[in-house]
Amino acid sequence: MSAPDARAGWLVHVNGRLVPTGQALLPAFDYGFLYGYGLFETMRAYNGTIFRLEQHLERLIKGAHLLGFGRSLSGKSLADACNETLAENSLKSARVRLTVSAGIGDGMPDPEACSSPTVMVVARESSPRTTATYERGFSAVISRWRRCQDSALGGIKSLSYVENLLAKFDAQRQGVEEALFLDGRGLLLEGSMSNVFIVREGALATPRPPGILPGITRGDVLNLARSLATLVEERDIALQDLFSAQEAFLTNSVIEVMPLTKVDGKAIGEGRPGPVTRQIAASYRTLVESVTTQGRLTLG
Ligand SMILES: Cc1ncc(COP(=O)(O)O)c(C=O)c1O
Repeated sequence: MSAPDARAGWLVHVNGRLVPTGQALLPAFDYGFLYGYGLFETMRAYNGTIFRLEQHLERLIKGAHLLGFGRSLSGKSLADACNETLAENSLKSARVRLTVSAGIGDGMPDPEACSSPTVMVVARESSPRTTATYERGFSAVISRWRRCQDSALGGIKSLSYVENLLAKFDAQRQGVEEALFLDGRGLLLEGSMSNVFIVREGALATPRPPGILPGITRGDVLNLARSLATLVEERDIALQDLFSAQEAFLTNSVIEVMPLTKVDGKAIGEGRPGPVTRQIAASYRTLVESVTTQGRLTLG
């Protein structure tokens, strides 16, 4: 656990101002707190640059519009807030979390009553997984809770994240790192905090939207795979496809490309990271390096 005095020294961006952590407080009637009526993004910064900041902000703003708020949100000011939080905390390699709620409303649910959105940015030193973890890969369980493929929340990174947390905590109690959601038809959707890919019969396959978060890392992986001339399919994936796959991996902005080597106690393929996974993981690292050493992204 971090020392309390170190925590007190962090600066948090709250509605346009950087304040010490202890002053980063929410009003009681904030709809993010009351109802989970808001969105968040978790991003990675490398070499002092937030990777794919623009895409994360686009996804968040689109999600806010879908939820019916955030007409006043500007990509430029959100980007400035994220970049300032990183710089003012003197961070180079970090996790950056942007949280946006609909704002302060009435005690009774009424979207019209909401003020302007609440915007908070927190940045912390990143603590990447060890090389040994990447060599071993993640294990997962199939979550005992199914997710509705037509859910209003399936495609957005909403603050209503409790279902994901429950599945994750349940997986951790079983001694594994991730839980995979199936939909009502028994088809694979995604991890509680990641997208899922399989390599089967020479093709890379991943579930298609709706019903999944269109991950920023997932998008990069699809593009990288195509550029490596790998056959790519966005399609329905049955549980049997996963268990008969030669390889599988998980993606998100923090873990990047993580081999998935065991599900429900059964090895996927040979139970260790396979050649396609290794190639895509290495290409992703090269991409990150080249993008984040070109200088900070600025939005017009
Ligand atoms: C449910 C879910 N799916 C997929 C992802 C991967 O998204 P990204 O690659 O944009 O980090 C996340 C990220 O946390 C997630 O929570």
